[in-house]
Amino acid sequence: MAQIEIKLDDIPEGKNMTFKWRGKPLFIRHRTPEEIDQERAVDVSTLRDPQTDEERVQNAEWLVILGVCTHLGCVPIANAGEFGGYYCPCHGSHYDASGRIRKGPAPLNLEVPVHEFKDEGTLLVG
Ligand code: FES
Repeated sequence: MAQIEIKLDDIPEGKNMTFKWRGKPLFIRHRTPEEIDQERAVDVSTLRDPQTDEERVQNAEWLVILGVCTHLGCVPIANAGEFGGYYCPCHGSHYDASGRIRKGPAPLNLEVPVHEFKDEGTLLVG
């Protein structure tokens, strides 16, 4: 299975970068302290697909998700929507900065692929 290695130093805080991995868009988001606090404070019982931020993110600064809407597979737009994360323009799904579905027709959170931090500046996905 193909792995992709990503140099994290190239992704400034507050920015989401898109890579291509196994034919799909892969989003790597360098989260701000405010985004981390906001996602950690979410009441999980209010979520459609209940997951804590800690369950989704190995290193609080880095969100690693597939950019494939769980409704019908469009590519969501970063830093858009009502929850400060992602917005899928196809039918209006809003995801938060943990990639969790918050509003709209998508049934599930954006998928977190298998990944590991090789060292502080290097992420391996796959
Ligand atoms: Fe994203 Fe329908 S494909 S909302």
